[in-house]
Formats: sequence, C-alpha cells, structure tokens
Amino acid sequence: MQPRTIFTSFERRHAELWGNAPIRLRHRLHEHELFSDAALGRLVESWPREHYSLVEWGGNGASGGAWREGETAGLSGEAILKAIALGRVWINMRNLPVVAPAYAELMNDIFEELEGHMPEFRTFTRTLGLLVSSPLSRTIYHADLPGQSLWQIRGAKRVYVYPNAAPFQTPECIERINLTGVEFNMRFEDWYDEHAVVFDIEPGDMLHWPLNAPHRVDNHDCLNVSMTMEYFTRDIRRRHMVVKANAILRSKLGLVPQGAATTGPAFWAKAAFQRALRDTAWVKRQNRARKTPEFRLDPTRPGGVVEIGGA
Ligand SMILES: [Fe+2]
Repeated sequence: MQPRTIFTSFERRHAELWGNAPIRLRHRLHEHELFSDAALGRLVESWPREHYSLVEWGGNGASGGAWREGETAGLSGEAILKAIALGRVWINMRNLPVVAPAYAELMNDIFEELEGHMPEFRTFTRTLGLLVSSPLSRTIYHADLPGQSLWQIRGAKRVYVYPNAAPFQTPECIERINLTGVEFNMRFEDWYDEHAVVFDIEPGDMLHWPLNAPHRVDNHDCLNVSMTMEYFTRDIRRRHMVVKANAILRSKLGLVPQGAATTGPAFWAKAAFQRALRDTAWVKRQNRARKTPEFRLDPTRPGGVVEIGGA
C-alpha cells in the first residue's frame, strides 16, 4: 500500500521558513515503488541520451578540477549502477516527469501537498531529475536559477548551503549563469564554509534553500541516489527575466544595470527588453554548457572509462 502523504514532517514553521532559510524536511520517497532498486535500474538503462549528463569530475577541491561528459554506452541498468558505485562519476537524468510519466503524477502530488501547507505557493514549469553519484564524489560550489530542493533516496551526503548574498553570490554571477548556462565558475574561498549551513542527509531527508543560494555537496563513502525538484513561481520567473535583461545590458552593452525590481515600469521595460533579445544569435552564442561526450563507461572494467576517439 502506498503511503498517504509524501512529507512526514511539514510543520507550521516550515511554511514560514520556506525560501527564507535552508530547511530539512522528512519524506517517504525512498520507500516508494518508483524508487525501488529495480525501478532505478530500469530508468538508468533506458534514459534517452538527450536527457542525461554523465559527468566525470577530476578535481579534489571545493572549486577546482576538470569537468567532462560521457555516455553510458548501452550498458544494462545493473552494469551502469555498478560502474557508478565503483567509479568517480555521476549521472543526472533530467526531465523525469516528461520521459517517465508516472513521475509526473508523483510530482503533482508533491506540489499539491506543498500548496496544502502553503496556500500562497503557486508554481509552474516544474520538473524532477534523478542524480546517481559515486561514493566520495563531489559537486563543487555553484548556484542554480530555479527554486530547488534535494531529496535523498539512497546513500548519504554532506550538503553545504551558503547565503544567497555577496560575497558568496553576486548579481554578476547569477547573470553569467543565466547567459552561459554554466553554473560552476563561481569564486570560492575556504572560509566560506564558516558561513555555511551544513546538513548530513540520508534517505528520507529533503533540503530546500533560498533562491540562488550557492551550495556544494560531498558524498559519503557510498553510492548516492538523489532526486532534484525545480520550479518557478511568478516571482521567480520575473526575477529570471530581470536577470536576463541585466545580463544583456552588462555583457553586450557594457552598462551597469540598476535595480532588480519585479514590479512597476522598470520591470516591464526589462521584461520587454529581454524578450526582444533572448533569442538573438549573440545571446545563444553565450551558452557554453558542454555537451560533447569524451568517454564511455567501460563494459569490461566496472568503474573504469574508455576515451571516445582516443587511444
Ligand atoms: Fe545545485
């Protein structure tokens, strides 16, 4: 029998804290049939190439290192999970509700429950992703543009969440992410950690943090499966439009953009400005998210990789 609610710990204070401070909630998804070992194996085996990124991260620090992308190369779900368990890679399966509609129903149930707790909370452009990552692998310091939460399904990890204000994050930095699609080129200093809220999360934990708050993740020494949930509210969408307009003003026209209002004439002017320019060749050229695969999982050596086109 499926559990009646997804959250087991949503208290009144969580509605007040939502979006204003990092919070941890408890959920039941790790016990849900959509996240059984068999279901995870089927997902990873059949996930369409255009909807996943398989990433190898060569760095050891919180910010440095080399990022490259690869392919699962037609391995079985079991073999892919074994390769991730023994290697130093992660796979991010995007667009869960679109590719596998059973998860769309789950996503709607999650948002319905959240709206029940927070009647003002109205979202659109919602999505879910599934992240399977190797023991001890790291996700370096970065910030994301949509509203976001992280749901732990298997394994354990340490998550550092930093304030969404300078010096940890600046308007220029969010503009650059908006324009380039690359979240990871942010300045990081070791002393930032003294200002982070640190969570050790395990199956049944969910984290939510303020919009654009930088974060980084260190896996414990075990295979990790986590679900990411992203959404836009009307306010987040408006902020997104202002960031896009400011990014174009700063990068293309060399101006220092003033203000981040999401109402009034200044907002509507920027909304029209970014709408007029966001599909231009110049804006599209700025998108530098990497997509060319450089390696494949090695079918004969679980945990190893084979270079594409290399020796
Ligand atoms: Fe993130």
